[in-house]
Amino acid sequence: MTTDSDPVPAAGPPDPAAGPETGAAPAPPPGCPAHSGGGRTDGPARMHGPEAASNPYGLYERLRAEHGAVAPVLVNGDLPAWLVLGYRELLDVTRNPTRFSRDSRNWRFLRDGQVGPDNPLLPLVTWVPMCSFVDGAEHRRLRSAVTDSMKRFDRHGIRRHVTRFSGQLIDDFADTGRADLVGQFAEHLPMLVMTKALGMAESYGPRLVEAARDMVKGSETAIASNDYIVQTLRDLVARKQAAPGHDFASWLVAHESGLGEDELVEHLRLVLIAAYSTTANLIANTLRMVLTDSRFRGNLAGGHMTLPDALEQVLWDEPPFTAVYGRYATGDTELAGQQIKAGDLLILGLAAGNLDPEIRPDLAVPVHGNRSHLAFSGGPHECPGQDIGRAIADTGIDTLLARLPDLSLAVPEEELEHRTSLLSRELVELPVVFTPVRPGPRPAVGEPAAAVVPGPAAPANGVPAPAAGERVPAAVASAAAPVAQDAAPEAPARSNGLPAGARAAAGRRRRASLWRTLVAWWRGY
Ligand code: HEM
Repeated sequence: MTTDSDPVPAAGPPDPAAGPETGAAPAPPPGCPAHSGGGRTDGPARMHGPEAASNPYGLYERLRAEHGAVAPVLVNGDLPAWLVLGYRELLDVTRNPTRFSRDSRNWRFLRDGQVGPDNPLLPLVTWVPMCSFVDGAEHRRLRSAVTDSMKRFDRHGIRRHVTRFSGQLIDDFADTGRADLVGQFAEHLPMLVMTKALGMAESYGPRLVEAARDMVKGSETAIASNDYIVQTLRDLVARKQAAPGHDFASWLVAHESGLGEDELVEHLRLVLIAAYSTTANLIANTLRMVLTDSRFRGNLAGGHMTLPDALEQVLWDEPPFTAVYGRYATGDTELAGQQIKAGDLLILGLAAGNLDPEIRPDLAVPVHGNRSHLAFSGGPHECPGQDIGRAIADTGIDTLLARLPDLSLAVPEEELEHRTSLLSRELVELPVVFTPVRPGPRPAVGEPAAAVVPGPAAPANGVPAPAAGERVPAAVASAAAPVAQDAAPEAPARSNGLPAGARAAAGRRRRASLWRTLVAWWRGY
């Protein structure tokens, strides 16, 4: 495997206590993940280095070739960690919370105060009272409030809202003949739908979308945008406490888990952000594939591959979260031949796991709707919003393709740029052209998009178009067979595991911008 960026230094990592990315390496501690490469000369790779930024998929394959299913890496501050690349190992880690906890207070470098206040990882790992940071009974209490409230969503209603908001977004550019489908469509649709589902007045939608986009981009008005969002969510909670409605926020408030005020606001933020960036990414990547990959063009036009099939292909090949930080070893253990020490950080390499040659020996074979990928992770923390994400993406794209049937890319595919963060790889823009149409009545839900995408049903790159009903290799299905989950432990009562100084610094950061922290935690930058 070749890479297109600078090689990482051959030396081991500097002493984390000496500060980020500085100083000579002392003798490695026994069992240190970054020094387990056996006599290899290439040293641990940086998850925050130029190779990871410019060619993350190349880095995964290089590490797989060098280390197998679990690779020693360095994270920000040159702190040693493990990157889990194997499909089966990822299932093993996510499905065994007693061995691999979601609770960042178990990370020994955090406990030891080696994650400095300016380390970009801090927002990802600073503990907050949210279902994404706990295991066991506390996780079940918080998560059940989210999932029970989600179950009450009217799925048909969600699709109706998606169709209507998609129509509104398309109307804004339909008569111009050109658009950027990231900035004018994908980035807006999930937030508009979620504000509606949460129970906010429709007039909030556009401002919240603008505020969230503004904040994620870190513009000069980011703090004001943050304040607006926080206040909006607090007001929403107060309104729903006084006058409940038929919406997610009301059901969350009323849930038998009895979420406190902060827990309510945290989980509303979590849901809003979880839905916003991931679903936007899925919409953008699926649109790009539909527009550029002749497998999809041919299959959609020929009626063999449905849009939901195309979504699953993208979730396999380009999952919105390339990696998740993370899991923390609760004791000394072994994984794929690597000696993991208690308190080690394991990064879930979801994108790498989806491409594991053990389960996908031939990546050119289409997956055809097979849902056993790791885009939504696995185990007790597996994404509870996946059906909602899929519903927003496929209904939104369906509506777009029906309204603008001759949509095509405005630039050569090679000119499309990506932005890579610790957690994701996103399209920056998706410029398209089409025959201008006048704003008009919107298509009914479920109106077929097939046959609106031009292009012959020709083989892609010499790969014959698959027959209808073709399935992924048996290896994929067998690898995804259920594995017994460990009983999750009770959440221990303890402080957040930070030393006093770092705790105070973390506290200041949280007070300054909880929303930014969450966004950074979710997106990884
Ligand atoms: C295509 C869209 C989406 C993708 C790819 C995605 C992916 C993920 C992933 C990888 C996780 C982390 C699981 C782990 O820690 O192992 C997660 C967690 C979560 N997601 Fe999603 N997500 C998507 C959409 C949504 C939507 C639409 C919602 C809400 C309506 C949502 C709500 C959540 C929540 C609440 C969690 C935390 C679950 C827990 O820790 O128990 N997600 N998601």
